[in-house]
Amino acid sequence: MSKDIILIGMMGCGKSTVAKTLSQAMKRPFLDLDLIIEERLGKKINDIFAQMGEEGFRKIEAEVFEKELQGGRIIATGGGIVTNPVNQKTAKRGIVVFINRPISEIEKDIVKETRPMLKEKGVREIYEKRYKLYKAFADIEVINDGSIEELTQKIIKEVESYENYDN
Ligand code: S3P
Repeated sequence: MSKDIILIGMMGCGKSTVAKTLSQAMKRPFLDLDLIIEERLGKKINDIFAQMGEEGFRKIEAEVFEKELQGGRIIATGGGIVTNPVNQKTAKRGIVVFINRPISEIEKDIVKETRPMLKEKGVREIYEKRYKLYKAFADIEVINDGSIEELTQKIIKEVESYENYDN
């Protein structure tokens, strides 16, 4: 069984979108951890944050992440997965791809009102805090400054060379 490909990066960097195109191109199933969490609890992410706080959400996120790493899939994670150190060990079971999109582009796209993390902080401030964590988790970093097709191809190429030369 091949390792899971784990997509990390800021909210709005393209993880969920590219998970789908990668899934088609690589003929592997994909899943979105936030959606699994919502299904499991029968609640929207916003409500989970409101009722359990960020800490409660992070606990469930870590459990679901650990459970869903079964190999052979593309896994889109939530942007804050890197804030819980437990997840770094879990992530070593897969190939971690950091999707780094220029923050100015993310700022243009993001709808603040629907994002629990953006109630108190700006997206740039969060990125600055998390950047070193994304780097520490990642096996591969790709810059997303073009189309989704380009990003898909970049990731496939990088994953193939990682599999061939690094392991
Ligand atoms: C979060 C990002 C969200 C979601 C939650 C927390 C974060 O996922 O997990 O709102 O801390 O950056 P996306 O990155 O898929 O938007």
